[in-house]
Amino acid sequence: MQNRIKELMEKVGGFKPATLAEIEDFRIKILGKKGELTALFEEFKSLSAEQKKEIGKTINELKTKALDKINELKESLDTVVASDCDAIDMSRPATARRVGTRHPISLVRRQIVDIFSRLGFTVADGPEIEDDWHVFSALNFPPEHPARDMQDTFFVEKNPDILLRTHTSSIQVRVMQNSRPPIRVVCPGRVFRNEAISYRAHCIFHQVEGLYIDENVSFADLKQTILYFAKEMFGEDASIRMRPSYFPFTEPSAEVDVSCNLCGGKGCNVCKGTGWLEIMGCGMVDPNVLEACGIDSRKYSGFAFGMGVERIAMLRYGVKDLRLYFENDIRFLQQFEAIY
Ligand code: DAH
Repeated sequence: MQNRIKELMEKVGGFKPATLAEIEDFRIKILGKKGELTALFEEFKSLSAEQKKEIGKTINELKTKALDKINELKESLDTVVASDCDAIDMSRPATARRVGTRHPISLVRRQIVDIFSRLGFTVADGPEIEDDWHVFSALNFPPEHPARDMQDTFFVEKNPDILLRTHTSSIQVRVMQNSRPPIRVVCPGRVFRNEAISYRAHCIFHQVEGLYIDENVSFADLKQTILYFAKEMFGEDASIRMRPSYFPFTEPSAEVDVSCNLCGGKGCNVCKGTGWLEIMGCGMVDPNVLEACGIDSRKYSGFAFGMGVERIAMLRYGVKDLRLYFENDIRFLQQFEAIY
């Protein structure tokens, strides 16, 4: 009997089924009513007490081993069967998670700042709620001067000295007050004007201001800096032209046009047939501004420029309705560069 138990033990140990049906057959053959192990237990009953003592332990071991083996095999085959099923195909690519996208205004602002930082410009920031001095007076807007009407301003009713900045030029005043030349900064920020909202005007928009102050800075430096910017932003073929203009804080002042990147300067409906698109205002910092900010205008000169981020974004992406930049419509925003 010991030998038969040993043989059965080996049979159980070496059993390698391929299907659940084979396991079931095996279970019936060993543990079923007419199974081999069941027969052994029948025989066991008729043994003497002495023999029972000797064999009892091994026959019980055999039973446990057979049961464990069958359960184990069933479990492992179960998972193989389950993984065959399409619903949990572990090898399939996971469902892609939607990632966010950067706002087109952030993308363009970052690109503008990047371009100027390659020329050694650093970034300066300033408050959106300003006082009259930083937005107007220090920038050579005399009190009651009509130039103040160029920008429709939101004032605080109880104290008209406090207002929402209408341009980021106010930051250049703070930079000049707080640092000594050479100064090379760009100042990105949000600005506010009392305008009716339409496809081409908004009461909130974004500007990047630039300022360069040192000894012997000339208009040629300004021109070269803006040309570099235009080529980096709109492509190597871009060219610029400057038209005389007026700003209280610069003298001389100019408006800058870039060659239309859609028609290559031939004239199309975006550039209204002219071949040129206006991108910014600029000029040589007026000596009055330098003096108001505590910089010696006999020793130092400089240039400044200011551009609208929405305007550049419009030219880059062909999105002409300004309101789209502020409505946070996910269908619009999703079309821009994803954040990874
Ligand atoms: N501050 C002007 C505006 O908001 C833009 C500007 C023009 C800025 C000429 C400048 C400049 O620094 O030199 O319309």
